[in-house]
Amino acid sequence: MSDWTIDKMAGHCGARLTGVRLETANQSALEQMRAALFEHGVIVIPDQHLSPEAHITLAEFFGPIDVNRFFTPVATHPMIAEVRTAPEQAAVIGGTWHTDHSYDAAPAMCSILSAQTLPPFGGDTHFASMSAACAALSPGLRKMLEGVQAWHSDGSFADSKVGIDSAQDAFRDPVLHPALIKHPVTGAPCIYVNGDFTTHFEGWSVEESAPLLTYLYAFVTQPIFTARVVWEPGMVAIWDNRLVQHYATADYSGHARLMHRITVQGVPLDAA
Ligand SMILES: [Fe+2]
Repeated sequence: MSDWTIDKMAGHCGARLTGVRLETANQSALEQMRAALFEHGVIVIPDQHLSPEAHITLAEFFGPIDVNRFFTPVATHPMIAEVRTAPEQAAVIGGTWHTDHSYDAAPAMCSILSAQTLPPFGGDTHFASMSAACAALSPGLRKMLEGVQAWHSDGSFADSKVGIDSAQDAFRDPVLHPALIKHPVTGAPCIYVNGDFTTHFEGWSVEESAPLLTYLYAFVTQPIFTARVVWEPGMVAIWDNRLVQHYATADYSGHARLMHRITVQGVPLDAA
């Protein structure tokens, strides 16, 4: 019997979990929550209003915290990153489809976002299932991608204008990941290239890679693979960066938004 009520948000992606207070959740409820994350790719848990300490405790249930080297930390809790949009800001952090930390050799397994200040409208976050997209590939393209690796780089942060502390010593060498990965826990095959950080396929030029990467970015973000999170006060969202990509909507100009984000350490990724 589940402590949670779990309602799917869409056919391929996302679930809403209610009925448990995270700050006092028992081990069984936490394990059910983790299983729901691996099944649905992203879970949202409304009305939690986590303290920074509770946010850190929740993250540590999943594993050690992976402190982002580019984001501005919360002054009192440097393990938590600030995702802040000022009212006069037109662009937002994460306003393109991407996977957090894919530029790392062991990319973050999950990200945990806790709503602090929400605009009166907009600022929704979209998610797309990379396992559903992978299952929908044609057999021919899938077979070809099974033998391909892609390079990922943090270099795009050098041009970022929003919320990124691009100190020169934060940048690292590009890393290789399989274009199709096997989820480290469930084994689900997932497409693992994204528009923010993937630069080209191994053994291919940037120019040769661009048409197929462009096709894949459009393919994986088709609405049928997605779910849309409409934020509510105190809501927590947790997503698995191997299972989903996400997109922050920049449609609330003139209003402030503040989220707290923690990312949890992941593992090197194997080919599907
Ligand atoms: Fe992100």
